[in-house]
Amino acid sequence: MSFLRNLLFGKYLIITNTVSCGVMMGVGDVIQQRREQWKHRSFRSPEEIDNTINDKFTLTITQCTTSFMAEDESNKRLVTLANRLDDSGNNHDVVRTRNMTAIGFMQGPFHHYFYLFLDRFLPGKSVTSVIKKTFVDQIVGSPTCLAIFFFGHEMLEQGDPREINAGVMDKVIETYKVDCCFWPPAQLINFLFVPMQYRVIYINLMNVFYNVFLSYTKYVSN
Ligand SMILES: *[C@@H]1O[C@H](CO)[C@@H](O)[C@H](O)[C@H]1NC(C)=O
Repeated sequence: MSFLRNLLFGKYLIITNTVSCGVMMGVGDVIQQRREQWKHRSFRSPEEIDNTINDKFTLTITQCTTSFMAEDESNKRLVTLANRLDDSGNNHDVVRTRNMTAIGFMQGPFHHYFYLFLDRFLPGKSVTSVIKKTFVDQIVGSPTCLAIFFFGHEMLEQGDPREINAGVMDKVIETYKVDCCFWPPAQLINFLFVPMQYRVIYINLMNVFYNVFLSYTKYVSN
């Protein structure tokens, strides 16, 4: 156990941190997509629900006919098929989660080195040092992460950094305002109570909440 701990939080801390950044970003997006579907389902009009049921029914009939015509048919397969159709409202956007995870990976090394740097230049847990750290984190760390997030997405989507549109900067600034309410309290707790080597892990947990919000800003709000 302690051997594993030494590897994960010692020598290979940067890898642990980077992987966890990616995973947390993916988890945040999965939660946000679930929320969107749940909302979508609760607020559909009766006509919409009718249409979906009709579509599903037509699909089922077509599929059943095809299945019966095939030779290797069994009831079991039909049941599986029906279940799958029943789930068709649950379409998860895998590419979206993949992109979010990729962005998380991009933020990982920055997180890792930034907190090493912060602890080296503002060591200790005195109140002044903690407040300074929180301040530097909010002034330097947060905007950098948001920039990596939004510009990273633009790069994934455009494939060409030169085509990034100016509107991205507005999104970074809007998001930064929310960031300023969320992160300083979370970071004060972090710097006061969390041991150095668990810091990025703690941040990642906070990040799950925050990433749900980021996923929402990126894909839902306009
Ligand atoms: C995800 O990234 C790909 C490039 O790898 C891009 O073409 C696509 O538009 C992105 N999709 C979403 C939903 O962000």
